[in-house]
Amino acid sequence: MLSKVLQICCLVTFSIWNVGSVCMGILSCVTQEGKYGYCMGGQCLTEIQSAPRFDLEIRIVAKYPEINMKEIENKVLYIRGSGLCLNWTTGMKMRKILTDTWEVNLKFTSSDDGFRCKDCSNDINITKKLEYRILIADRTNMIGGNFIVDLPVSMSSSYFDEKPLFEVFPWFYSNAGRTSNFTITSTEIGKERQIYLYLPPSFNENTFKKYPNLLVFDLYPGSYSELLTSFVDKILAESGTIKEFIIIGYGDYQPEHERVDLLTPTPGTVMTCINGNFTNSCDNCLPSNLTDDEHRRYLFHSVLFNEK
Ligand SMILES: *[C@@H]1O[C@H](CO)[C@@H](O)[C@H](O)[C@H]1NC(C)=O
Ligand SMILES: *[C@@H]1O[C@H](CO)[C@@H](O)[C@H](O)[C@H]1NC(C)=O
Ligand SMILES: *[C@@H]1O[C@H](CO)[C@@H](O)[C@H](O)[C@H]1NC(C)=O
Ligand SMILES: *[C@@H]1O[C@H](CO)[C@@H](O)[C@H](O)[C@H]1NC(C)=O
Ligand SMILES: *[C@@H]1O[C@H](CO)[C@@H](O)[C@H](O)[C@H]1NC(C)=O
Repeated sequence: MLSKVLQICCLVTFSIWNVGSVCMGILSCVTQEGKYGYCMGGQCLTEIQSAPRFDLEIRIVAKYPEINMKEIENKVLYIRGSGLCLNWTTGMKMRKILTDTWEVNLKFTSSDDGFRCKDCSNDINITKKLEYRILIADRTNMIGGNFIVDLPVSMSSSYFDEKPLFEVFPWFYSNAGRTSNFTITSTEIGKERQIYLYLPPSFNENTFKKYPNLLVFDLYPGSYSELLTSFVDKILAESGTIKEFIIIGYGDYQPEHERVDLLTPTPGTVMTCINGNFTNSCDNCLPSNLTDDEHRRYLFHSVLFNEK
């Protein structure tokens, strides 16, 4: 094994050191121009420039209820973006193709150094992704994070009749989600249960949009869920660091042992004090100067100890 490693090291050193295009075996090597390649038939071969392509096209479709637009005279969607035919300073008007539906087709070219607009004069060159935003009347900017198209896009060339479609659901006015709660009767686990519900900022504004659901098993209407709301609003709307989602929280465990019975695959251990309660350190049985960590370990230990 070691001799094999040494052998590989020596060969690699040899081929890098010997900057000529002579090399051995099938190991990686470096060409005279300093490009990485693979050794084949004693020659260091490397990638070649691929042919540029001029026939690429994608479709972006935005859906939004026109009735919710507050602009009076120009109820039209525009798009701005980081490249292809778009820029961040002036929007391109989208075509209205159906009720509440606007579309734009972007024609572009690709070559080894990036993707560029085909039929326009901008020379913006992007390499990994197109980012874009939708605006009403090229004035009212959408809320939340940029929309993204990862490049390259497969099946975007003229060989394919159907152009790749990116359908988006922007929203423009609402920065805050809404929380509510409701009660269900659960036949599965018995009794009435209170459910916490968070609907994201765009929920009532863009009624076309669908959302992933986040189920939280230990979150019920009340103090913690209220703290959560403003934080979630912030990441969904203000900073736009994440796509919107709905939160369904559940957790009115009653009595307390339901938490360990219902949340663990097998009924868990419930920790209680023999005398007193946790607020008074089990009737001052636990030392009063414990750190949080020591406190936790103490309880865990005494539980294990009691079981034996
Ligand atoms: C930005 O894009 C718009 C819409 O296509 C175009 O009218 C405008 O000329 C572009 N601006 C620049 C600086 O390229
Ligand atoms: C396009 O962008 C790439 C990466 O930023 C750069 O290496 C290349 O020189 C650019 N090409 C042109 C024509 O601007
Ligand atoms: C549940 O919702 C109702 C109606 O919105 C509200 O009055 C009540 O305070 C909520 N309860 C909790 C625990 O959040
Ligand atoms: C804990 O026990 C003390 C003393 O009996 C009592 O005053 C207190 O209300 C108890 N706290 C809780 C949360 O039950
Ligand atoms: C807590 O008090 C005991 C005795 O009063 C002492 O031995 C121990 O070091 C103290 N622990 C901490 C974390 O201060």
